[in-house]
Amino acid sequence: MSSNIGVMGHPIGHTKSPVFQQAGLDELGIKETFEAWDVAPEDLEAKVATFRAEGFIAACVTLPHKQAVMPLVDELTEAAEAVGAVNWIFNRDGKLVGHNTDGTGFLRALKEKAGFDPEGVDAVVFGAGGAARAIVYALKTTGVARLTIANRTLEKAQILASEFSEGRFKPTAIGMDRDELANYVPYATLLVNTTSLGMAGGPAELATPATADMISADTVGYDAVYAPPETKFLREVEEAGGTPAGGMTMLVFQGIEGFEMATGKSAPVDIMFAAIEKALRSS
Ligand code: ATR
Repeated sequence: MSSNIGVMGHPIGHTKSPVFQQAGLDELGIKETFEAWDVAPEDLEAKVATFRAEGFIAACVTLPHKQAVMPLVDELTEAAEAVGAVNWIFNRDGKLVGHNTDGTGFLRALKEKAGFDPEGVDAVVFGAGGAARAIVYALKTTGVARLTIANRTLEKAQILASEFSEGRFKPTAIGMDRDELANYVPYATLLVNTTSLGMAGGPAELATPATADMISADTVGYDAVYAPPETKFLREVEEAGGTPAGGMTMLVFQGIEGFEMATGKSAPVDIMFAAIEKALRSS
């Protein structure tokens, strides 16, 4: 029989979620097994229907299902609507609520692992894909002073900027040319890479969206790329005298936020991080 909590994706073999989620459940004495479900797209609807069962708690949702599950749940939270993706489904008395914790996970990663609060700062987000959407949404809620979205395809940055523009929050969209970046990057105290530049196995593993010469020393540089743990971008931030912060923390905190909403309890954050760090060391 299937457990009442788990993560679903396709493929799912690579997921590290069960490692730290199980450590959290065990620490709190919750007698559930956090499972990993490989669910092919054609089986998604039937799988989601099983989440309405009595006793079912929650499912973390990963690629490629984060958009496809949206019409299959009964209700979407404001965060899920705004980000346009669901990464957690909670069973609330037979009603399925789709939520998104990627943005809040990012903010917690910044706050709890880099000691950084983005309120009132100038920030640059590199990229305009799914991860950028979650981060722009999160930065909007924190009251960042000025936000610039830099993307190789300018039009995508413009669309993202205009979708989130509201009141005094008006992100600026720019391309990724060095000259253009030079007008914004040196003045930002938060830089976030959401592009695939620097990603292991990708076409641009040794590339970075910004170099040390344009990064200010009081900058926190966050990389949503988590493999490798130390990207070229993070090395450039360090060389500039700034504070580098790695992407695995966002991944774990999106899970921790979901864990807390699923269980209604504070997560044993240190124990969950220790579990994933141990698993990464031995993999
Ligand atoms: P995710 O969901 O992880 O954000 P995505 O939606 O595929 O992934 O977005 C990938 C981002 O990386 C995009 O912003 C993409 O830029 P484009 O919109 O121009 O495609 C960016 N990206 C990918 N390869 C890049 C490269 N070689 N140089 C600059 N940006 C790149």
